[in-house]
Amino acid sequence: MKKGKGTMRRTGWSFHSAWTLAALLAVTVAVPACGSDEGPNGGRDGDGTNGDTPGAGDNDPNAPRASTPEEEIRKILDQRKTDYGEALRTASLKLADRLPTLEQIKRIENAAGDPAKKVAYEAMVDEMIAAPEFSRAMIKFWKDTFRLGQVGQIQNNVNKDGAPNFAAQITVEGRSYAELFTATDNTCPTYDADENTFTPTPCAMATNAVAGPTVGILTDPGLQSQYYANMAFRRVRFVQETFVCNKFPAEFSDKPVPMGSGTYTGTMPFKSITGAENKADSRIDFHDTKAVICANCHANLNHVAPLFLNWDENGALRAGPQVKVPIPGEPNAARIDFLPEGEGLAWRLNKPLTDMASLGQALAADKDVPRCAVNRVWNYAMSRGDIVNDLASVPDSVTQPYLDKFTAGGMKFKETIRDVFKSEDFTKF
Ligand code: HEC
Repeated sequence: MKKGKGTMRRTGWSFHSAWTLAALLAVTVAVPACGSDEGPNGGRDGDGTNGDTPGAGDNDPNAPRASTPEEEIRKILDQRKTDYGEALRTASLKLADRLPTLEQIKRIENAAGDPAKKVAYEAMVDEMIAAPEFSRAMIKFWKDTFRLGQVGQIQNNVNKDGAPNFAAQITVEGRSYAELFTATDNTCPTYDADENTFTPTPCAMATNAVAGPTVGILTDPGLQSQYYANMAFRRVRFVQETFVCNKFPAEFSDKPVPMGSGTYTGTMPFKSITGAENKADSRIDFHDTKAVICANCHANLNHVAPLFLNWDENGALRAGPQVKVPIPGEPNAARIDFLPEGEGLAWRLNKPLTDMASLGQALAADKDVPRCAVNRVWNYAMSRGDIVNDLASVPDSVTQPYLDKFTAGGMKFKETIRDVFKSEDFTKF
């Protein structure tokens, strides 16, 4: 059986098909058909044909037969056999970016019986996590997760290594995941592979940039540049999909309202965003209900996007808006394009925002954020692809024990990696 890094998958008979089933089931529950299906590099498809708004029942916890497939999956998982040799192989590829050494293979082989093999295997997981190769594996992991990175230093170009390096540094040094959203300095560390050291470094400022506070990776110039797009929505989408692990719509009301061709399912008041109903000359009508209910996604998007307007396409923070409104003449976006006069920013209903730092705090406090982090580790270990773009969602019950430990233990991503790679889910085939 082969399994490994990157695109190689576990090819076990039952394992894979079981999780594919889980993923399919999860899709119907967690990912309502919507108008924002795009490829991994973004670019909204703009076709309203699959823009059916989710119905009231989509999140119904009492939906019939909901628990049966999970029980089925558990049964299949339980039938698998422990194989520490196989586990070592995959763990080594993922934690050290290489195959295990002969000495490591022998250590498992020479241990007599499963309990001794387990001890040997777990000791090697600890060794791998303490080794320099782990730093490199984490930089790679975060580059993939952020879809960001550069080869070599290109003169005058924005640094696209800063954010992945910072996330890797936090991971390797056993610091809190929350620092991704709350750190106020040194969020663009450099990494010296020969010395295996991260050097704390502030993100460089372009010559035409204005100074602004650092808020974890949220203000990272490389990310701002990578996700530059009209009205800054792609930047908000990055935050949502990377750290919450769901596409928009982000919130569902338990009292959906039929409207136009569909149903308004958002939690925030329909008129809390800009559109024809509160601004006759609005440049984009977010109250449109003819083909899709724009507000289902944009109620949340529009309450966050104004925080991201002032970074230009090279990731430099400027004094005024830099992103455009996609109408003839491509004017710069203004706050009024998103929210009516007097309407405040918000991460979610009743989670008001004032500035980027408050968005960082909101993310650090959002209970979906640690769950997403833990599910990403689980998917990485199990070679399951990206949780959002490959629809590789994980049933909550599977990762709940890791999540409990993660939140109780100060959100240490490294410890979750250690736990998952030592888990039965990982060592059984
Ligand atoms: C299912 C969620 C969803 C719905 C429904 C939706 N949008 Fe969006 N919209 C998004 C997301 C996510 C983005 C950011 C896409 C990206 O750039 O990656 C976006 C981007 C945009 C943009 C910027 C596009 C560009 O040119 O780059 C505009 C304008 C926009 N939406 C308007 C609307 C309007 C008007 C409607 C209703 C007719 C609507 N959207 C419906 C999620 C949605």
